[in-house]
Order: sequence, then C-alpha cells, then structure tokens
Amino acid sequence: MNASNFLKENNAQHMWHPMAHPKDSHDNPPKIITSAQGVRIRDIDGHEAIDAVGGLWNVNLGFSADPVKQAITDQLATLPYYSIFRGTTNDAAIELSYELAEFFAPDGMRTAFFTSGGSDSVETALRLARQYHKIRGEAGRVKYLSLKKGYHGTHTAGASVNGNANFRAAYEPLLPGCFHIPAPYEYRNPFNESDPLKLAQLCIAALEDEIAFQGASTIAAFIMEPILGAGGVIVPHNSFMPMVREVCTRHGILLISDEVITAYGRTGAWSGSRLWGVQPDMMCTAKAITNGYFPFGAVMLSNQVVDVFESDTSAAGFIGHGYTYSGHPVGAAAALACLKETIRLDVTTNAAARGTQMFDGLEKLKMKHELIGDVRGGHGLMSAIELVSDRSTKALVDKQIAGQIQDVIYNHGVMVRVSGPNLILSPPLIVTEQDVSDILHAIDAGLSDAKPAG
Ligand SMILES: Cc1ncc(COP(=O)(O)O)c(C=O)c1O
Repeated sequence: MNASNFLKENNAQHMWHPMAHPKDSHDNPPKIITSAQGVRIRDIDGHEAIDAVGGLWNVNLGFSADPVKQAITDQLATLPYYSIFRGTTNDAAIELSYELAEFFAPDGMRTAFFTSGGSDSVETALRLARQYHKIRGEAGRVKYLSLKKGYHGTHTAGASVNGNANFRAAYEPLLPGCFHIPAPYEYRNPFNESDPLKLAQLCIAALEDEIAFQGASTIAAFIMEPILGAGGVIVPHNSFMPMVREVCTRHGILLISDEVITAYGRTGAWSGSRLWGVQPDMMCTAKAITNGYFPFGAVMLSNQVVDVFESDTSAAGFIGHGYTYSGHPVGAAAALACLKETIRLDVTTNAAARGTQMFDGLEKLKMKHELIGDVRGGHGLMSAIELVSDRSTKALVDKQIAGQIQDVIYNHGVMVRVSGPNLILSPPLIVTEQDVSDILHAIDAGLSDAKPAG
C-alpha cells in the first residue's frame, strides 16, 4: 500500500467531519488536499485549483504568507506556550493587544479578550454582555436577540442565537431567552419586500416590536454579522446596521458585531462595522486574525464596556471565563505578523476592486444561467449565488445538482463552497484580476454542464 492509497482508503473512515453526515462522507469521500501555494491548493492526485473558499473565509493572505509562518516558527522556538490566566502573561499577547487596540480604535474598541476561534469569541461576547449588565445593577438583562439566517458558530450559546435550523434542531433544547428577528434578505423574506431600504425598515420595526414584547430591561445584547456570511452572503441595506445601533443604544442593549468573517479587510473595509459607519459595543474576531495558520481569536471591547468592568470595585467584575489557549503566544505571534502583513499589503483595496469584478461577473452569469436565482455581494470578496430549479417559484435546486456543479467547477480548476442552495465565494484577498476571471469561467462551465432535475 503506498501513501496515497493508505490516505484514500482511510479517508473519513476514522474521522467525523464537521457540517457533514458521516454516511455521506463515506459515500462521497472529501477531497484530500495535500499542499497549497499562493491562492492555489493541490489535491492528492496532483489536481490544482484556485481556492475560491479562502480556506474557510480565513486564509486572506493566501497559503504563502511567509512572515506569518516565520513568526510561528520563531515563537515556537522561544516560548511555545504560556498561560495568561490571572498572575502570568506573555510578551506576544501584550504586544498583540496593543496593536489590536490601535487597529480597532476607529471602531471605538480599546481592549482585547483572547480566544481560540470564532465560536469561542461569540461565547465570550455573549457571556461578558450579561456580566456587563450585572455589574451595572441590571441583572435582569439576560436575553439575546439576533437575526434569522445569522451564523454565530456552534457553541451552545452561539447555536442558540444562530438563525439557521440546520445548526440548531439536532441540539435542542438550546439556551432559553434567545429571540430572532427577520433578516434583511431581499430574495426571500416574510414581508415579500424586495426594496432594500423598505426591507431594512421592516426588519427594524420587527426588532422594535420584539424589544417591546420582551421588555428592554430583560435584553442583554443584540448580535449580528455586518454582512451575513454563512447564511449566504446576505448584504443589508447600508441604513440597517446604523438603525440597529440607534435602537440598541436607545434601549440600553449592547450591540455585538460578529466580525469573525468581516474583520481584517474582507468587505473592502477594515471591519464590517466600519463599512457601515457603526461603532458596536463588542466585536468578535477570529479566522483571518492569523490567516488561518493558527487557531486564535479576539473579542474587542469598547471604551464604555471596558470602563464598566475596570471601574468595578466589587467582585462583580471578576471574569470567570477564559480558555487554556487564550493569548497563546504562538497564536499571538502569528496574529502580530499577520496584522502587519495585512496592513502592508493594504488588502482592503484589492478586496474592494476584485470583489466588484467578481460581483459584476456573477451578475453577467445570471443573465446566462436560469439556475441562478439570486446574486449577492458587492462589498469586497464575499459573494454568493443562490441556485434555484425554477426562477418563477424560487424552488431550491436539488442538492445533488449543486454537488455536481461544484465538482465540474473543481475540475475546471476552482474550489467553491456549496452550502444549502448557495454557492459561496470568499477567495483570499490577494487574488489577481486573472484569478477572478478564472473563477468566473469555471463557474460558467459548472453551470453550463449542470443537468436539470428529473
Ligand atoms: C460570523 C461567524 N461567527 C462565528 C463563527 C464560528 O467560528 P469558528 O468556526 O472559528 O468557531 C463563524 C464561522 O464561520 C462565523 O462565520
């Protein structure tokens, strides 16, 4: 048995894959990726593809970001681990907290709480939000509001505020006190409203209605993604997040911006909040903070939140929360190098330009392919096409056809992600004009080859 056969024979045999049915992984073994360079990945059979998924929305600088790799190697040699639990810290974590405070200052952020990834960041923000109100003497504020279609990771609190049944139903009962507002999703919404501004206003009216129903004094926080990613790149009207901010402020509800995808440049702005001109109370970040090379995250906290905790003189401000790998020095060193490289390369400029190219190209494909029901994006390098079997009824495309399309696109040299009816694109922010053109050609080929249902 050679190495390749061994890997193929054992593929998915002794490992369960996230977001997959184990039987499906047996029937349709996942592609085995063995190396990568630049924006390209290579599989076990030597087939090369542009990674239009960007790892998993995280490899913003591509697979050859040598300064990040070097920082990891160097840090492993000097201090491979030391805890930042009360009483000790490490130099890399201190330096990173300083750099992040500078980077997120325009968003009104001052202090970081380090985590091991996106779900941890969401969990941290939700917990700290309750504690914030307890410190201020409003212990009754324990509920959370969020958007349907939102994705906030898979910890139990995160899944409870998630707005997609696929990530919830099997794990119920979830956390009590979580309530969902319709998302500003033009293509499908309960108001049958396709005008983005009017839809944003209707969703805000629903938010106000829910707050009145629950009682503002029972609500700790509202959590949202500035652009909903995993839910299918749902882009709210530019008035939406500012209106959410105003409503939250008026009712004393904290606004948590889940920027696990949108922080560090993906939208063509340095953060999703900055894209919409909003200063949240907390920001959840992870993913591209280390370019995906090390599991790491940071919750950023606003001046006001920090002041409440730091001016507390009782025991209420004690943070009974944290992870063994909070502030991991290797992750912190990776993040420091990654942040420096992200700024040096000014990735927002390329993300904005290439994002427009990608979005316009997808709109053109929509004119050609009946299978495309909706194209979403237009803000940096996050776009999606929603596949339908019938444009007039918006009936969802068969799962098998979506899989076939993905395969043909891959055979044409591009890896895309299929999630439900959505084909999602989130390539590294360093893609070239030619790369985007190649991505669009491969998608065109995939859609041309797709066999209609029945
Ligand atoms: C907006 C958002 N929040 C949270 C998460 C969870 O992050 P992780 O998978 O690193 O736990 C994700 C992951 O895709 C995400 O997109």
